Amino acid sequence: MSEQRHSQWRGIRAKSAAWWFNTRARTRVEHGVLETIRSTVRKDDVVLDLGAGTGFFALAVAPMLDGGRVVALDLSPDMLSGLVRHATRSRLTSRIEPVVAEATKTGLPDASVNLVISGNLLHELPDPAAALNEMARVLKPGGHVVIQDFHDGIVGRLMKALHHHQARGALGTDEIGRQLRAAGFSDVRVTASGVRYLATGRKNSICEAQERPEAPSGHEKETERGVIPSPHATGV
Ligand SMILES: C[S@@+](CC[C@H](N)C(=O)[O-])C[C@H]1O[C@@H](n2cnc3c(N)ncnc32)[C@H](O)[C@@H]1O
Repeated sequence: MSEQRHSQWRGIRAKSAAWWFNTRARTRVEHGVLETIRSTVRKDDVVLDLGAGTGFFALAVAPMLDGGRVVALDLSPDMLSGLVRHATRSRLTSRIEPVVAEATKTGLPDASVNLVISGNLLHELPDPAAALNEMARVLKPGGHVVIQDFHDGIVGRLMKALHHHQARGALGTDEIGRQLRAAGFSDVRVTASGVRYLATGRKNSICEAQERPEAPSGHEKETERGVIPSPHATGV
């Protein structure tokens, strides 16, 4: 599948996003994401916010860090300008590094990140599995991923029309679970709430990967719904 190389989040659309996306009127599940992140992140972590946009998640995570930093990556320089404006106002620029790049080719080294977060991005991508593979590549063994996006309910399906024709559209909750496991994540949990889902997983540690190069069949049956896990990455 060909890659999306430009963002539709430019100009006036990016300017309105910088206002609307950063209001407190974000849904409960999105605040649930912040709680999950809070219980997972350590102060000196390197956190990658993939599709950071105007920074709703990056700006919330940055104050949780001390010595760590958030790499706020987005295809759209206009969206990241909005993020930088907010970060400057909140005096958080020293903890946030804006990076203009494609979600499937971050340019970050292998195993260089403790936590990947991604809000409302996957449904816009032509190949979300490639983005999940990239998340797994840049994460340290034992590192966590926290993803929130529209699921394939009616709103998720309508969202497709708002985006680039190559966008894959919203994934179902079973599908995101399957794709996370295929990308090498374990402890996968997916919870749907309203029109969105929250998905979490942990990159297998080196020992686990050596002991278990392929997911055993029982692994496929691992529960996908339930309480979001919070243990922090170990052995990173
Ligand atoms: C709906 S916005 C979400 C922004 C932010 N995560 C939030 O929840 O407020 C989606 C963002 O993903 C970015 N995006 C879309 N396709 C991308 C890609 N292929 N690589 C990187 N970023 C991308 C867009 O530029 C936009 O800023």
